[in-house]
Parts: sequence; C-alpha cells; structure tokens
Amino acid sequence: MFKLAMNSLVRKCQFSKFAQVNKGYGVVRAIHSKKYLLSLLLVLAQPLLTSCSLFDQSVSGSSFDSHLIEQTHSVVALSFEAKGQAGLDRLKQDRTQEFCSTQRGFKGSTSATNALDPQSSQNNSIGQLTEQLRLENLAMIQQPTDGNYLGDFKRGELIAQDGRGKTWTDPQGSVNGGNCYNCHRLSKNEISYGSLGPSLYQYGKLRGITSLDVYLTKVKEGASDPLIQYTWGVLMNSKAYDLCTVMPRFGVTSSASAHEQNSPILTQEQIKDLMSLLLDPRSPVND
Ligand code: HEC
Repeated sequence: MFKLAMNSLVRKCQFSKFAQVNKGYGVVRAIHSKKYLLSLLLVLAQPLLTSCSLFDQSVSGSSFDSHLIEQTHSVVALSFEAKGQAGLDRLKQDRTQEFCSTQRGFKGSTSATNALDPQSSQNNSIGQLTEQLRLENLAMIQQPTDGNYLGDFKRGELIAQDGRGKTWTDPQGSVNGGNCYNCHRLSKNEISYGSLGPSLYQYGKLRGITSLDVYLTKVKEGASDPLIQYTWGVLMNSKAYDLCTVMPRFGVTSSASAHEQNSPILTQEQIKDLMSLLLDPRSPVND
C-alpha cells in the first residue's frame, strides 16, 4: 500500500525529486533492514509531498486537481474491503461530500463545479453552489413525528459518551452512540474530550435557559422556538448550517449510498435525549 502511494508520487513528480527518491531506494537496498526502510521512506516522502503539491498547484492548475482527486479515490478504494455492515458503498460521495473534498483544497478551481453538473453549473459561482447544497441539506431534516423535540438528559449523556457503532464488528441493527465527547466538551465532570468542535458546556444556560420554567416554555413552543429549531437541525444534519463541517450528520443519510444498511447514525428518540442534555437546566451540561 505504502509502496503504491510512493510509486504514484514518483510518477507525478518527474523532476529532480525523482532522482532523489531513486537514490533513496539505492541506500535502502544497502541497509537491508525493514525498520530503516520504513523510516527512510517516510522521511523522503514528507518533502516530496510538500514540494510536489506546491509546484503543481502553481504551475499546472485545475487539470492537475482532477487527476489528483482520481488518484486519491483509487488509493482510498484499494485500502478498504467490505466486511460486515461496513460496505464499500460508504466510499461513494454524495454531492456535498464531493464538493467539500475538492473545494476545500483548491479554492477558486472550477473543476469540482463542472464535475457536479457539467450542463448547468458552468456559470455557477462556488458561493451559489455552496448555498444550493446547503439548502439541499436543510431539506433533508425531518421534524419529530410527534412534534416533541426533547427527551431525557440522563440517556443523552450516555449517548454522548458512547462511541460505538457502524463498524464491521458491530451486529447489523445494533444501537449506535453519538461520540459527542470525541469532539466537544459537554459536562463539567467529564475531563476526557476532544476539541475539534466548540465547547458545549452550558449550551442551554448561555442561550437563556436559566430556569426550569424557561425550559418548560420551550418544551411547549417546540418548533416555533428558534433555539430548538437550530439545535435540532444541527444534530439532524450539521451540513445544513455549515456545509463542509466535520461534524457527522446524525439524523440523515448520505444520498450517495442509499443502501438498506445505511440508516442514520442516531434515531429521533436518541436525538431528543441529546437535545435535553444540551438544553435542560438540570443536565450536567448546564451545571
Ligand atoms: C467529528 C467531530 C464532531 C463530533 C463527533 C460531533 N461534533 Fe458537534 N460540532 C463539531 C464542529 C467542528 C462544530 C462547529 C460547527 C461547524 O463546524 O460548523 C460542531 C457544532 C456543534 C453544535 C453547534 C454549536 C453552536 O454553538 O452553534 C452542536 C449543538 C453540536 N455540535 C452538538 C454535537 C453533539 C450533541 C454531538 C454528538 C451527538 C456532536 N456534536 C458530535 C464537531 C463534532
């Protein structure tokens, strides 16, 4: 796998770096040690990667982008095999994922726009397309069937702590966790959390839910309360608010893999419990 990636890099950079790598392979052969081989290849690959990407972006522009994207897809596809519920359909990107994979790295390039819709998007600016995709994500959000947006914060805390689910070792249909602590600080007492996302500590309190009365009013208002609407929306489909966010879409599925096993990560009931974890003044989040 690593050798394959190296080979494709070498093919890509047909300049002085090529000689450098060949020289590197020569030294490697002389050393005859797997440990040295690996570390040497890693050391060599680092400057090679950096210099290639900088050079190609400035010289060959967007034609290089699509070539690189294709190569990345094939390397990624080679690295996975279908097992259990983790099918290869997970590698298929929907319009949003495709857009975010390409536009993030190459701002200003038109190649991703064309790849999405060659007929009509030629004249679309990146900004228009971003908004169009964001609205598509917004339309995917379903409101709770019983009109009730809130659940139990104690169950919510367990879901936020639980990072299991959706892997090939998990039985089909088993209950998934939300893994929220992986990226967010939530309750004060849990000191093991990631910082990819903003702190959600005192999420409800900082947004005006300072008493049980205020909370119960919001319970009654439901969808007509902007904070309830927003929080529900972010949990159901974070990409409706920030198109290329790294936060998973918990309540909807990617339209690219409409496989029957591809159910949303969390159920509506679980999302209601998380809503209470964030908003209920009795929740440890609002301590
Ligand atoms: C892989 C990382 C990741 C995971 C896992 C994750 N989030 Fe997020 N979340 C983020 C990021 C990053 C943001 C910032 C918003 C953005 O990117 O636009 C965010 C934003 C939010 C917001 C909006 C905050 C605001 O001030 O508007 C809420 C609410 C939220 N997350 C709740 C959750 C909950 C609940 C879970 C678990 C079910 C969760 N997140 C799991 C990364 C994550």
